[in-house]
Order: sequence, then structure tokens, then C-alpha cells
Amino acid sequence: MLAIIGGTGLTDYKGLEIIESKMISTPYGYPSSELTLAKLYGKSLIFFARHGKEHTVPPHKVNYRANIWALKSEGVESIVAVNAVGGLHPDFSPGSIVLPDQIIDYTYDRLHTYFDENIHSVTHIDFTYPYTKSVIDKLSQAALNADISIYQHGTYGCTQGPRLETAAEINRLIKDGCDLVGMTAMPEAALARELELEYASINIVANWGAGLSDDVITMNDIEKVVSHAIDKVKTIIGEFVKL
Ligand code: HPA
Repeated sequence: MLAIIGGTGLTDYKGLEIIESKMISTPYGYPSSELTLAKLYGKSLIFFARHGKEHTVPPHKVNYRANIWALKSEGVESIVAVNAVGGLHPDFSPGSIVLPDQIIDYTYDRLHTYFDENIHSVTHIDFTYPYTKSVIDKLSQAALNADISIYQHGTYGCTQGPRLETAAEINRLIKDGCDLVGMTAMPEAALARELELEYASINIVANWGAGLSDDVITMNDIEKVVSHAIDKVKTIIGEFVKL
């Protein structure tokens, strides 16, 4: 089964045929929100709000382990995450939609693995390609079918937050090879890999990275840009489930 993890601007997925919502307890505590079991074009899926239904859980406080565990325990095999990001690459202006294919992790102090306690042996997962290629390809095909233009490559730099970056930090991220900056790809993607789930992400570029434009970055502006792009994202997901 497919799960959609909604981020900023997608805490409530209107248009789904809702079957039931349920809270799940996990060995790692409670997830950010209830899991919404639903149907889209006749296909069963789970919708899940990463920051809670009321958008109250900040990126560094998200219980990523409980979230991914809860989805797996409900039979999820494949995840499409939606993340709002800042654009660093000159092509990635606000409103663009990007399917990232790489990650650089700058986070700290997050509970980021299932393999640290009560383990039988030390485990290192392969994470060379953090996003699942077959899911990226299927999302690309879905966008093509919907006649929505997207970018199919990008390196996501994941910062700790909740504050936005300094101009110097953004310059460093660009020098490192990042094209996008956000706060939620990690440890989410790695935990999905640890539980052997397919995982890909649709990034909505909400703003230019700090210092790349003269604009002050406000939450209001981020939400406004995301709310304009969200219908396109939902159309891509609709086409995706039909494939
Ligand atoms: N930086 C980090 N996270 C973000 C940004 C940003 O500029 N925009 C949306 N999420």
C-alpha cells in the first residue's frame, strides 16, 4: 500500500474518500497525527500529516521513528513524501516542483535510526541512492501524463531548523552541491530505508534560499506559494495512483 506524507501546506488532503482515521501506538511513541485510511481513484492509501493535523509539530520535534514505524505496521510498502523547500539552484524558483534524487544531511540531535538499541548485530544500510528510483520514475511519468512540468533531479540539503538559514549557510550549501534546502527529508528517508520501504519525495519550492533574493522569508509567503502549487502536486499523485 501507498502512503502520502503531507508536509507544510498539505496537512489535510481534500478530495480523498476517507474510510477511517486511527492513532497508532508504536515502540517509539505516538506518530505526529492519526493515520487516515482512504481511497483515491479506487486505490487504497494512507494519508499522514508529518507536522500534525494542526501543523504544530516543528521539523526538529517530529517523531520520525514513530511515524515511519506506524506506516509500516499498517502495511505500507511505498511512501511519497511532500516537502516544502527553499530553492538554491537558479532553475528552482518559487512555485517549481522538483523530485530530488540526493540528500546531504546537516541535522543533529534527531533520533535517526532503528538500529541503536536491542540489536543483534551492527547494521549499516546502503544509502547511496536515498530515494527509490522506480518511484521517482513513476512520479515523473505521472507528471508527464498530467502535463505538469517538474524537475527530476536535485540534491536536498536537510538543515536542523526550525530557524531558516543564514546567507553564509546557504552559500556553503550551494558550494556543497545542494540545489534545495528543507528541514524534513532526514531522518525520514533513512528510516524508510531501514524498514525497507520505497520512498520518494515531491518538493515544492516555496522561496529562494536565504540571501538569494532581497525578500524577507516569511511563513505566510511560504504557505501562500505552497497553497498555489498544491493542486498540481495532488494531480500528480492522482495520476501516480492510476499507473
Ligand atoms: N530553508 C529550510 N527549509 C525550508 C525553506 C528554507 O528556505 N523553505 C521551506 N522550507
